[in-house]
Amino acid sequence: MLEQLRTYMEKQNLDGFFVQNHENVRYISGYTSDDAYLLITRGRQFLITDPRYTEHAQAECPDYTILNWRGAAPNVGEYAAQLAEQEGLKAVGFEKDLLTVKFHEALCTAPHTEWIGTEGVIEEFRSVKTPEEIEKLKVACDIASRAFERIIRDIRVGVTEKELASRLSHYMVMEGSDTKPYGNILISGARTSLLHGIPSSKAVEYGDFVLMDYGCQYKGYLSDMTRTVVVGKASAKQREVYELEQKMVAACEEQMKAGNSGRMVYEASTAVIQDTEYFPYHYTGIGHGIGLFVHEIPFMGPKHETPFKVNQVITVEPGIYIPGWGGVRIEDQVLIQENGCVNLVSATKELIEL
Ligand code: GLY
Ligand code: MN
Repeated sequence: MLEQLRTYMEKQNLDGFFVQNHENVRYISGYTSDDAYLLITRGRQFLITDPRYTEHAQAECPDYTILNWRGAAPNVGEYAAQLAEQEGLKAVGFEKDLLTVKFHEALCTAPHTEWIGTEGVIEEFRSVKTPEEIEKLKVACDIASRAFERIIRDIRVGVTEKELASRLSHYMVMEGSDTKPYGNILISGARTSLLHGIPSSKAVEYGDFVLMDYGCQYKGYLSDMTRTVVVGKASAKQREVYELEQKMVAACEEQMKAGNSGRMVYEASTAVIQDTEYFPYHYTGIGHGIGLFVHEIPFMGPKHETPFKVNQVITVEPGIYIPGWGGVRIEDQVLIQENGCVNLVSATKELIEL
């Protein structure tokens, strides 16, 4: 991980790289907490933080020089500028999609250092997972699937979305996830057409769809899955939409293999519904890479042409969302292989009527 970055620096003639993105800091250094920045040079590695985290950083990153910027400079940017000057760095890469103008101005107080904007460098390394990362992602998906078995026993008329969402989070922690909160979507009835609906005080009613889009973090690695169930007997329309959704997911998963692209998967999903009345209700974003962050490259939709690579982990989540009526989403998280994929989510996709 650090070596990948150094190889990149060498190719680009950079003698330093400043890392600010939270997940990139973790990926490169192994540091798991907050408010830390890395300055990587060809021969040394610095982790800049403040006294709340120095002990934590020392323990997790023994190969790094841990530095406390507080008291030494007015802000992290000026501290990093001083450090770059002290190390004699001439050209330092930084993540230009993240830095504020103020932060950039602070970096530029280094008189002899040029700061070179880069985009997506570490994100590209992160998109292909190592065996250790895959193992953690599998565990995160297993925890979420076990929590599904528990939450469906709690879904009944009268219980509110908020209460169910809170129980779902509790179950995942009890099943072994990290405690870091994750914004679970748990919505019911007509509210299930809200793609990113927030759990409300609405009580579940007979005949509702209940859509659960959720996941957890395990040793920093994320799961993201969705299942939609019916409270009571599904209506004919609910069954029709659910079955179409099942077919869309299956069509997508057939295309999930190395060399195919997000556009190809999207086209497979829409082929299922293009001649039905539900075509206008699909959404074009049908999946995303996932790892230390929930939405990372590669993304899937009509404009995503980049071929998948072996050992990328990607969600598959076409959906049908009918405003005022409701929606159905099923979301899996799959591991890309040469000739197909492995679904890491074991929870059933059959229609559940509770
Ligand atoms: N599962 C919803 C999303 O990824 O946006
Ligand atoms: Mn997702």
